[in-house]
Amino acid sequence: MNRKDEHVSLAKAFHKPRLNDFDAVQIIHQSFPEIDSAQVTLETELFGRSFATPFFINAMTGGSEKSKKINQDLAEVAKACDLMMATGSVSAALKDPALSDTFQVVRQVNPEGFLLANVGAGSSVENALRAIDLFEADALQIHLNAPQELVMPEGDREFSNWLSLLEQIVKAAPVPVVVKEVGFGMTRETIQQLISVGVQTIDVAGSGGTSFTQIENARRKKREMAYLNHFGQSTVISLLEANEVQHSFTTIASGGIRDAFDIFKALCLGAKSVGISATILTMLLDKGPEETIATIQSWKEQLQLLYTMVGQTLTQDLTNVPLIFSGSVKDWCHARHIS
Ligand code: FNR
Repeated sequence: MNRKDEHVSLAKAFHKPRLNDFDAVQIIHQSFPEIDSAQVTLETELFGRSFATPFFINAMTGGSEKSKKINQDLAEVAKACDLMMATGSVSAALKDPALSDTFQVVRQVNPEGFLLANVGAGSSVENALRAIDLFEADALQIHLNAPQELVMPEGDREFSNWLSLLEQIVKAAPVPVVVKEVGFGMTRETIQQLISVGVQTIDVAGSGGTSFTQIENARRKKREMAYLNHFGQSTVISLLEANEVQHSFTTIASGGIRDAFDIFKALCLGAKSVGISATILTMLLDKGPEETIATIQSWKEQLQLLYTMVGQTLTQDLTNVPLIFSGSVKDWCHARHIS
């Protein structure tokens, strides 16, 4: 099977409802919201502009006929629900232009949408610029995925140029650049390094949902590195780490988002927008675009109610909501001096 198709089927197979660190985040309830629901707006600000919805479809696929259809359906969903959307890594199309249409379909479906192209760290400046041009992307995502590469026998082994290439891409890109993990999360040290090379928007993409070490291990008979299947920091922990960074930057959260309540908690933890991959993919493949659109619309309605419940009318003010952490999140806070 094509590697991209295998990623889709394994991500779906591993996407079981399960506990993650969002369950260790408790909202402290106060009895007087003191606002009316009609006052709430879900708007959020990213890249110096306003977005109607504070969540989006994060990078997944493209590069095969099957994934072209998935990108087409995802773009329909993004358009119907007014969501920003990223494609999966476009590097396959940069190597083989015959695959370009498996990504360009998202622009055909959603000409006015805010669309992000995606390449891996280690890409040259030239390829980063070609990725943006492929479908006139409004922003570029660059993914960091060292554990995934290392679990793959054919994976990358050269990481010494990643930061300097990132610096060059940020300088050269005519659109905003988002650096993201792929489900292993980040720390304040990683974020500081990204800021030091000029990155302004960072998707911490933590564990708790899709795991690319688990997926790559499952793709081969010998699974010697299965002990890395749940490697990395959770999205909740990564957000707490991001909040420890003194310099200004914009935080995006993704990894393990299951429903509107997880989106809400990630926003309370400081994310400006929240990316969702496997939950939307699985819904799309199991139930089709119409039901997926209906569920996403209901998430928006639920968010409006959740903002009301905590007495906040603006996304940016959700960071005022008092939270309590338990279990391993609490232990992490203690060990890393997060108060
Ligand atoms: C991904 N993800 C991903 N990320 C990226 O930057 N480039 C890519 O090409 C892909 N490909 C990809 C394929 C599939 C099938 C899935 C499910 C995911 C990672 C994704 O953007 C995200 O960071 C993680 O999946 C964590 O989010 P979820 O799945 O837990 O919501």
